[in-house]
Amino acid sequence: MTEQELERRQQEFDAKVANEERIEPKDWMPDDYRKTVLRQMSQHAHSEVIGMQPEGNWITRAPTLSRKAILLAKIQDEGGHGLYLYSAAETLGTSREDMVEALHLGKAKYASIFNYPALTWADMGAIGWLVDGAAIVNQVSLQRTSYGPYSRAMIRICKEESFHQRQGYQIMLVLARGSTEQKAMAQDALDRWWWPSLMMFGPHDAESAHTAKSMQWKLKRESNDQLRQKFVDQAVPQAEFIGLKMPDPDLHWNEDRGHYDFGKIDWDEFWRVVSGDGALQPPTSGTPYQSPGGRRLGTRRHACL
Ligand SMILES: [Fe+2]
Ligand SMILES: [Fe+2]
Repeated sequence: MTEQELERRQQEFDAKVANEERIEPKDWMPDDYRKTVLRQMSQHAHSEVIGMQPEGNWITRAPTLSRKAILLAKIQDEGGHGLYLYSAAETLGTSREDMVEALHLGKAKYASIFNYPALTWADMGAIGWLVDGAAIVNQVSLQRTSYGPYSRAMIRICKEESFHQRQGYQIMLVLARGSTEQKAMAQDALDRWWWPSLMMFGPHDAESAHTAKSMQWKLKRESNDQLRQKFVDQAVPQAEFIGLKMPDPDLHWNEDRGHYDFGKIDWDEFWRVVSGDGALQPPTSGTPYQSPGGRRLGTRRHACL
């Protein structure tokens, strides 16, 4: 391709992105764009599939038949999300086998939150409410991402995600209104999942390697910090409604900003978990599980509702 031709195509691409048109698989796109959207979709697909695992462990321990059926349906949806996203990524010339191999070799990442263990039935509630809840905030924004197949996959996925968030919140609501022990279990799950769910949005904008380029290409429509703030503003009243307390002494409503201020995220923990350290330190008998940062992870209990 001549230099002139390359420049013409680049201009065409830039104009499409500027006009809110979608980039389709057969369109010319800069190599960096292709690489970035592929990395994003493969990471997303892997996260859907890996995310099935902590919840899969609870299918046989779901407290009632109806809870089991709901959890099964939710986990199946996540498998479906993985498949849409692998298919969307395949439109860019990679194969599912290559993506899965990259995952197995540790070359491809997935959302590190799934390295945390799901210790009690309340974790099924906290995961749906907070982890799926955080994922939705991100995915709603991605419905307008510039790569066509990715954006269309997101529209369908978002419809299912809102059911995931609701089923999780409903588990928490029932536990929070249950016995003292059940309420304590719900609070313990919230204590353990709150900070990791804030970390799901990734590093602060200033430290995020890919944010600027992805925003310019409209692959990302809102920055990590903007999305995280949206999630906090949404989750805090939900916790209040069911009478649970967010594990953050610095959390308060900021009248001037019209948003909640919240405490500092422990990025050391985030990076340790990203680099593969599971948060679960094996307990010596009778002691609580500890996160790498020493945050209490709770003891393994099966009492449930
Ligand atoms: Fe999903
Ligand atoms: Fe989900």
